[in-house]
Amino acid sequence: MNQYVIRGGNPLAGEVEIAGAKNAALPIISAAIMADQCVTLENLPDVNDVNVLLESIAGIGAHVDRIDRHTVKINGSTIHDCCVEYEYIKKIRASYYLLGALLGKYNSANVPLPGGCNIGSRPIDQHLKGFRALGCDVKIEHGTIMASCDYMRGTSIFLDKVSVGATINIMMAASRAVGRTTIENAAKEPHVVDVANFLNSMGADIRGAGTSRIKINGVTSFHGCSYTIVPDMIEAGTFMMAAAATKGDIIVKNVIPKHLEAISAKLLEIGCEVEEFDASVRVVAARRLQRTHVTTQPYPGFPTDMQPQMTVVLALAQGTSIVTESIFENRFKYVDELARMGANIKVDSHTAIIDGVPSLTSARVSSPDLRAGAALVIAGLSAEGVTVIDDIVYILRGYEDFDGKLRSLGAEIKTVSSEREVEKFRLGGVS
Ligand code: EPZ
Repeated sequence: MNQYVIRGGNPLAGEVEIAGAKNAALPIISAAIMADQCVTLENLPDVNDVNVLLESIAGIGAHVDRIDRHTVKINGSTIHDCCVEYEYIKKIRASYYLLGALLGKYNSANVPLPGGCNIGSRPIDQHLKGFRALGCDVKIEHGTIMASCDYMRGTSIFLDKVSVGATINIMMAASRAVGRTTIENAAKEPHVVDVANFLNSMGADIRGAGTSRIKINGVTSFHGCSYTIVPDMIEAGTFMMAAAATKGDIIVKNVIPKHLEAISAKLLEIGCEVEEFDASVRVVAARRLQRTHVTTQPYPGFPTDMQPQMTVVLALAQGTSIVTESIFENRFKYVDELARMGANIKVDSHTAIIDGVPSLTSARVSSPDLRAGAALVIAGLSAEGVTVIDDIVYILRGYEDFDGKLRSLGAEIKTVSSEREVEKFRLGGVS
């Protein structure tokens, strides 16, 4: 398994280009198979989850032509199977978006039930509630969701929980139902809006995405299109936090500043300078940062996917901060790893009480999940000495060229795959 080795303690400075949003790309790749013509997707992030999902749609017969790292052409006219193999859903939960896509196109879908993951149990009861409300018969047998109907009828669905996945999955299925569907209590994340915009580019009739009420008039077919994926607000936020934790000065480019408002507001609150431009944001952390309280919320609140990175910044801030995780039930597992680097954090159920320390110390730590792994990298970048991050496979699922982008900002970080390379890095510089 590969590791990152980091020699920390240097402020990060410079400009970094943000990639397309993984959490928009995954449902959009799934939805692309709903057209029987060529769909061209641009600004795809070159990350493992996207590459695995492209393999899974090819596995059911879609034609996938990778033009370059960030561009793919997909044609769903050659799909021969509505059954998705377990090997794909085991690798990425988001394969469950194929449920909504296949139901929308063929009124039939067999997709293995996604397991839980390191941040919580991740139920999909709201997804299934929506499909049943649209008239589908949904059974779960032998670990597989089997959904089918003669045709889907538009209806009104009130989600019991604000769910990004359920909102998107139901929107995809309903876009091809007969009649009108309303989704109430819908998620408002930018990637939900991006999926709605993409579906409309193929000929769907969806209004209200980005609000809590989405109205969908079903259509009978989709045509091909070209579409550019929205910038990744979480990748952008991660680099903004890296500036804060290393007393650096970073400009994140190719972003939509409005999507980052909750993150920028918190960084301003704790003493960073934050400057917004048309398509970039600059974060400068010249002095020691101050404590604050953060509670994760559905968009436009503070994103749960930024919770670990924010906790690392507050672990270095003056005073006692409180971070409350209101979305997932088990998203503080990384705190034990942070404690090994000298962080002073007590976790009680959904709340972390953080007594800031002047600096963290380097250590060998393990990445428990995608965003916690990125947070541990930020911790290593702030700490004097050599930090080794194990299990970086999680980080590679959602960050394109993470170490390369950090090196362009002055970080001493390298990907290694042996203890000998770890020792060589400890003894010398970045080779
Ligand atoms: C998406 O997950 C993202 N993943 C997550 O990002 C992100 O943390 C999450 O949205 C919240 O923003 C992708 O887009 C691939 P939810 P999703 O449904 O759709 C409960 C990352 O790091 N719930 O909005 O699975 C659920 O348990 C990942 O990129 C139900 O109870 O999240 C959670 O408590 C991690 N029943 C809450 O809703 C359901 O049927 C929000 O989950 C569905 C969800």
